[in-house]
Amino acid sequence: MTARILDGRAIAMAMRSALAGRVATLPFVPGLVVVLVGDDAASAVYVRNKDRAAAGAGIFARTVRLPTAMSEAELLSCIAGLNDDAAVDGILVQLPLPAHIRVGVIVAAIDPAKDVDGFHPLNVGRLAEGTPFLAPCTPTGVMRLLAAANVVAAGARAVVLGRSAIVGRPMAALLLAADATVTIAHSRTRNLAAECRRAEILVAAVGRAQMVRGDWVADGATVIDVGINRLADGTLAGDVAFGECLPHAGAITPVPGGVGPMTIACLLENTVTAAIARRN
Ligand code: GUN
Repeated sequence: MTARILDGRAIAMAMRSALAGRVATLPFVPGLVVVLVGDDAASAVYVRNKDRAAAGAGIFARTVRLPTAMSEAELLSCIAGLNDDAAVDGILVQLPLPAHIRVGVIVAAIDPAKDVDGFHPLNVGRLAEGTPFLAPCTPTGVMRLLAAANVVAAGARAVVLGRSAIVGRPMAALLLAADATVTIAHSRTRNLAAECRRAEILVAAVGRAQMVRGDWVADGATVIDVGINRLADGTLAGDVAFGECLPHAGAITPVPGGVGPMTIACLLENTVTAAIARRN
């Protein structure tokens, strides 16, 4: 068997064009502000992609660029200003932040109604409770990708590899909300390969290039690769050894062109969701 390759770019394009249609009917222009502290090269690329995609969907996006040397207090005051700005519906503080700024303090300062990343403790709690409002964009994008590919989560054995706050944990919560039977595997899991082989849906989000090998994948499994790792030769690789897994999997996402575009489409959807909720 050769796996079906799930084209995240095409699915995300369709989502964005449907969203642009919805935005055109709104009596206001949704506003998104991305806050970028410092000059991390990868972050600058993400931020540029987000800005472009927002404009295409009829969302007014701007980026606030701040120096690495700014204090936590200064960043808090910037966020307070955005919380108070009625034209701003979504606030995204790009991670990672410089080491002297505490992520938890910053995330908790964002108005939960404008928290398009879904990282604020209130939104994390809503998701954990099974009543998500603004859920994190990458795991939401994975759920949308599964749905678009007609992969049914309900009743399926799902294994999430990785337990980060941005992907692994919210991914498990969303799969559970969709009635999957969910295992979270991580660096301390005994016999990772055997755990992964039990998965009908395997989501890899560990940030280690090509860690998931061909013999970790059950025949016919759906393999979702959230990783984006830069190899020594400059090329991009996911957390999954794509070529090895292709003959085993039933469906698999490529890197790039799989989950990445879905994340951005979901960010735009969250912005519109926040805008409608706030302005009603
Ligand atoms: N850095 C890497 N992924 C993300 C994300 O989803 N949101 C934010 N704010 N920063 C990130």
